[in-house]
Amino acid sequence: MSPHKVEEPITKIPTHIAVIMDGNGRWAARRGLPRLAGHRAGTENLRRVFRACVEFGIQYLTLYAFSTENWGRPEDEVKGLMGILADVIDRETAELNKEGVRLRHIGRLERLDPLLRQKVLNAIQLTAHNDRLTVCLAFNYGGRDEMVCAVQRMIESGVAASAVNESLISNYLFTAGIPDPDLIIRTSGEMRMSNFLIWQGAYAEWYVTNTLWPDFDKEELRKAIVDYGRRERRFGLVVPVKKDQHPGDQ
Ligand code: IPE
Ligand code: IPE
Ligand code: MG
Repeated sequence: MSPHKVEEPITKIPTHIAVIMDGNGRWAARRGLPRLAGHRAGTENLRRVFRACVEFGIQYLTLYAFSTENWGRPEDEVKGLMGILADVIDRETAELNKEGVRLRHIGRLERLDPLLRQKVLNAIQLTAHNDRLTVCLAFNYGGRDEMVCAVQRMIESGVAASAVNESLISNYLFTAGIPDPDLIIRTSGEMRMSNFLIWQGAYAEWYVTNTLWPDFDKEELRKAIVDYGRRERRFGLVVPVKKDQHPGDQ
C-alpha cells in the first residue's frame, strides 16, 4: 500500500463560489479567546484562499463577511468587525491588485462610517481593471434587504409591471452582471442560508463543512470543488444539464 494519499482530481470547476464564512466565534471560544480574536484569525487565511481560487480557475468568489442582522451583535463586536474590514483593505488591496483580483462589494455601503466606505470604494476603483478573479465582498449584505432595494429602484425608475421578469430583477440586484453562484460553501456545520444570496442561490449546490472558518484553507476548498464535481445538476429536468445550458442562467 502506498503511504501517499492519492488526491482525487478536480473534474469540474465552478465559475462562481460563494462562502458563508462562519464559526469565528466558536474558533475563539475553543481557545479561550475573545470573539474578535476569532474574527481576526478569520482574515489570515484570506490571501491563501484568493490564491487557491486563482490557481483552480475560479472566476468569482463571494464572501459573506457581515450580514444586515449582524448589526444586532454587541456594540464592541460590531465596532471590531468594522475595524477588521478596514485593516484587511489596508493590508490586502495592493496584493489583490498585483494578483489580478477585482474587488466588488454587495450590500449597502451607506450605513458604514464614511472613512471605511471610502476605503472600500478606493479598493474597488483601484482593482476595477482586473479580470483574473472577481472577489465580491458581502458586507452589510442581506438577501431580503437586496430585494427591498431592488423593488425601490425599479419603482423609482418607472419600470412597467409588464416589463418585470426574472432577468430584470437580477439586473436590479447588487449582483447585477455577476453569474449566479454554482457552489455555496458554509463553514462551521450550520445548515442554513442566513439571508445569503436568496435569489441568486436558487439552484446553487451546497457544501457544508464542520471546519471553522479560520481553519479553512486551500485543501478544504479543493475538497469542496471535488465534491461539487460529483453532483448532477438537473435544474428541475430529468437528466443532468450542463451549466451553460441552464435555462435560468443570466
Ligand atoms: C462568522 O463567525 C463571522 C460573522 C458573522 C461576522 P461568527 O461570529 O458567526 O462565529 P460563530 O458562529 O459565533 O462561531
Ligand atoms: C452568517 O453567519 C453571516 C456571516 C457569515 C457574515 P451568522 O453566524 O450571522 O448566521 P446565523 O446567526 O448562524 O444564522
Ligand atoms: Mg455564526
